[in-house]
Amino acid sequence: MAPFDDQFYQPADKFFPTHSGVGLTYDDVTLATLYSEVIPRDANLDTQLHERLQLRLPIISADMDTVTESPMAIAMARAGGLGLIHCNMPERQQLSEVSRVKNNVHGLIQEPIKIGPDQLIGEVLAMISDRRFGFSTFPVVDEKNTLLGLLPGHVVRERYAARKVAEAMMPRAQVHTIHERELGREPIKAADSFFTARMGIHKLLVVGDGDVLRGLFTLSDIEHILHEHGSHFKPARDEKFRLLCGASIIGLRKADGTLDRERIIGHAGALVERGCDVIAVSTAHGHSAGVGDTVKLIREAFPELPIIAGNVTSGAGVEYLAKCGANVIKVGQGPGSICTTRVVAGVGIPQLTALYVASRAAEKCGVTVIADGGVVKSGDIVKALTLAQAVICGGLLAGCPEAPGQIMEINGKLYKQYRGMGSAAAMTAGSAARYGHSTKDSTRKVAAEGIEALKEVSPTVELVLAQLSGGVQSGLGYLGSRDLPTLRKAARFIRVTAAGQRESAPHDVIEVKSTK
Ligand code: XMP
Repeated sequence: MAPFDDQFYQPADKFFPTHSGVGLTYDDVTLATLYSEVIPRDANLDTQLHERLQLRLPIISADMDTVTESPMAIAMARAGGLGLIHCNMPERQQLSEVSRVKNNVHGLIQEPIKIGPDQLIGEVLAMISDRRFGFSTFPVVDEKNTLLGLLPGHVVRERYAARKVAEAMMPRAQVHTIHERELGREPIKAADSFFTARMGIHKLLVVGDGDVLRGLFTLSDIEHILHEHGSHFKPARDEKFRLLCGASIIGLRKADGTLDRERIIGHAGALVERGCDVIAVSTAHGHSAGVGDTVKLIREAFPELPIIAGNVTSGAGVEYLAKCGANVIKVGQGPGSICTTRVVAGVGIPQLTALYVASRAAEKCGVTVIADGGVVKSGDIVKALTLAQAVICGGLLAGCPEAPGQIMEINGKLYKQYRGMGSAAAMTAGSAARYGHSTKDSTRKVAAEGIEALKEVSPTVELVLAQLSGGVQSGLGYLGSRDLPTLRKAARFIRVTAAGQRESAPHDVIEVKSTK
């Protein structure tokens, strides 16, 4: 960069200290372009949060009860990112959500609807009608889930209603199966070759040892997947080729107010046993004894486990959590789209300044930083990634079909619920501990620090992430950066005024088609 440029467009270590008295967020700054030989689509978005936690896309879905359960975590990891399964649910349920992600095989229906040999065809017909199934072929299993046969759709008719499944099913010896071991690393390819070799066969059952039913491939699913536009995402996987998955945990307390060590370690241990790759201790105030002690407990019990902890907005907060044993620090207090912490408590720091301060402390402590909250467009992610190793998104993903919750229609438009984990409703459902309140009396005593909102229904996670990652790659291209470490070194900032912000968005036109 020419010296004159340098006077205006400054690297982070010059720019932020120059603005040390003011809290800046994404829209307050813009990035200067730099000489580039990088074609955006070649820009690499891999990011390393910890030596055992490498993502192919620096985007993480928030551990919120209207954002991340297994369908979201599966979609995130399939796109190279990570989902953090929230903990506003019974522990057992959270464990099975993690198992669903870790056991997920793309295209494989892992919990197919099964029937027993003693059921009547009439009962099967009633089940199809009650549950509105669009299919009528079912695996038949015993009480131990051992495969006994397959009930073909052509016998599921009223005229056979009084007959038993056992009489009508295709016996085990004639059912086409594949052992789960034979699926290898490319299960879709294995299923595709199977269907090609056996003309007219539409179902392939997967069995494990002892002929236990493990799942089901259908020809139409496999064809659908093969015809999907060539996804450019590379999934984020562990060393056993399973999708990555994270989960959050709360520092539970006993009635006397002390941390419940046994339950915390028991919970973390059960998550690790299910294959959880990273545990997040997510709270509104991470620079606190309760969070630090919870992190220490988990670190002592699981020395190798990557731990995310937060949230903080100061260098001291980063140092504290790093000393307690956290590897990845969540930064953000109050920037979230549903947050009211700044309004209610009068605290919090605009996100870019917080990220700068935290990132410099993190470098010294050998930990990494995630920018959590306030991301509403891909340009925000590019700015965040000049200082952090990844971003967490809640609102941007809450409208996707993979987010929990029903779709509702209001005045002809479709919405999904999105609520802060510090909202009265979420705290009543159990998340009060995250905000340092008692769960028992949450509705009466707690000052809510989040709102309940709606998000317009959006396309699938894959499509949303394709837009976001495309935008981030453009950002890297403009800054001549092949990858994220290069972006962090290359970025040059300048402050924008209110007029500059207006100029940055579409203006003085009548918008007929938005890019949303
Ligand atoms: P976005 O902007 O992506 O933010 O919707 C998601 C992040 O917001 C945080 N969060 C909250 N913060 N009150 C808060 O002050 C809340 O009720 C609340 N719920 C979530 C959280 O860090 C999340 O990742």
